[in-house]
Amino acid sequence: MCGIVGYSGPSNSVGPIIEGLSRLEYRGYDSAGICLKINDELQIIKKEGKLDNLKELIQELKPFSHTGIGHTRWATHGGVSTDNAHPHGNDTFAVVHNGIIENAGALKKELMSEGLQFKSQTDSEVFLVLLTKFFKQSGKTLESISKAFQALTGNSAFVIIEKASDKLYCVKRSAPLVVGENSSTREAYVSSDPFALVGFAPKIYFPQDGVICESSVTNSDVQIKFYELDLTLSHRYKTQANAMTVDATTKGPYKHFMLKEIHEQSALVDKLAAYYIKDDGRKILESLKDFKPKGWHLTACGTAWHAGLVIKNFLEANNRQNASIDIASEFRYKNPILNQGEVGLFISQSGETADTLACQELCKDNGIPSYSIVNVEGSTLFRNSDKNFLIHAGVEIGVASTKAFTLQALTGYFMSRAMEGTLDNPELFTEVQLLSHRIGELCDSSDTLKDVAEKVYTKKGFIFTGRGKYFPIALEGALKLKEIAYVHAEGYAAGELKHGPIALIEENMVNIAIVGPELLEKTISNVEEVKARRGIIIIVGPTNHAEIEALADAYIPLNFEGLPNLSPLYVNVALQFLAYHIARLKGTDIDKPRNLAKSVTVE
Ligand code: AGP
Repeated sequence: MCGIVGYSGPSNSVGPIIEGLSRLEYRGYDSAGICLKINDELQIIKKEGKLDNLKELIQELKPFSHTGIGHTRWATHGGVSTDNAHPHGNDTFAVVHNGIIENAGALKKELMSEGLQFKSQTDSEVFLVLLTKFFKQSGKTLESISKAFQALTGNSAFVIIEKASDKLYCVKRSAPLVVGENSSTREAYVSSDPFALVGFAPKIYFPQDGVICESSVTNSDVQIKFYELDLTLSHRYKTQANAMTVDATTKGPYKHFMLKEIHEQSALVDKLAAYYIKDDGRKILESLKDFKPKGWHLTACGTAWHAGLVIKNFLEANNRQNASIDIASEFRYKNPILNQGEVGLFISQSGETADTLACQELCKDNGIPSYSIVNVEGSTLFRNSDKNFLIHAGVEIGVASTKAFTLQALTGYFMSRAMEGTLDNPELFTEVQLLSHRIGELCDSSDTLKDVAEKVYTKKGFIFTGRGKYFPIALEGALKLKEIAYVHAEGYAAGELKHGPIALIEENMVNIAIVGPELLEKTISNVEEVKARRGIIIIVGPTNHAEIEALADAYIPLNFEGLPNLSPLYVNVALQFLAYHIARLKGTDIDKPRNLAKSVTVE
């Protein structure tokens, strides 16, 4: 997902733009650039590779500018190169873009046939050329932005600056974009994420799709105007205080954001319980009391899909309701059977995952209500859903999702209990508090998992196994290890091993077996199958169980007592730590793993 930051105001725009882009690095990118308005000229400085490459160039040039836009690019159309990096500019405008212009090819061909030139292979530059063409015809910026934007198809967000003024313009369709304001310092901002503006813009605006925003700073104030595409004034925007604090942008005492976010989970579990059972969240949960849809369609991607598997178990086991779950990129193309009276539940940390958003649109087009379990308030999924169940995880910077998984699954649990009408049962709050406590104990003793990691981090491959409620955790544990340690790992239902995967077992393969108190004997026999074939066995199992411990090359004892519903979330934290310590030993880029982006806003 690309990162966008723009600034206009009395200070040097370079500082806020580069700081904002630095905060968005976690989303993944492969080039970066900035365009600054200097002495009435638009100067573009851009470079492929890491943001540090751009910072070095800026350090040399030491530019000063009151107006500028910056961008970190995650390549889609056009390879990774300085020419393809954003901003794209000419002697009239400079633009940055997030998303995909689906009809770029046809438009580019038409524009080239008119003799117009291109410098890059990107779809983004098509918008710049089209915008400039219309401006040359009308001399009107807003009108030209509107015409160029309406000619495009696909999901995109654009930010534009012009040589003729110090204004910031932006417009979007199904892509994240916020406008920021600091009236006391007379500064205007724009970004693809409110997180980039933390500490800079206390007030945030969320323009809706197809609304053009024009920000200008005068000697006395900040003027932020919103227009429909027909250039009438628009009121289709929301506004809120930027609730995040600056310490969310730092690792604090932790070596990685991922480690910080694993440690945050204990407190966040308590906070979420208070929000949904005692405070503001209670109202939206109560709206589910006795709610019995004909069925649920859960869709998500990656870790969120694993959380969906956990939630599906809650809906079926507790509420005896039909709940299908699909990987979003599969669901959207399989012509799913959707019936009136069913409901779509979309799970997403960012609320910007293209495949998940497409599923939400598909359900909406078929008259199916959309509920979301989402972290980012104001995200596209949030704005497009009929009901939102926020997970209040705070910003999750580590690309490998940890706290979001726990809080997504826990939110689903609260929804399940709300439908039962048992939110006030004392045992519910007791179990949640115990989960928080147990996670805290794991955090305090996580170094023991470092010893386990040291035993296996050089091994060839890992098979995570679990039965029933632990099967989703086996999948999630494998994904975590894959994405941060770059080792082959897969999750399997424990009973499935003998149906093929056991062929992989040999002394260089590790079976990480989740052995919960449920189906214990069955799961032990799966472990013995592996042991008989000299596989290395790590067991995550109950404390004080000598028989199981004796089977393991390494044993991770967990106290499952008192967690009849939420033990999978507890087990998962142990696997988060295990993946983290293995990745540490392998020396990978834990917060920004290779090839990954925090939010995949393209198909
Ligand atoms: C999780 O560790 C991954 N980074 C990835 O699978 C992620 O869960 C997936 O891309 C979905 O993202 P979302 O929750 O923002 O929709």
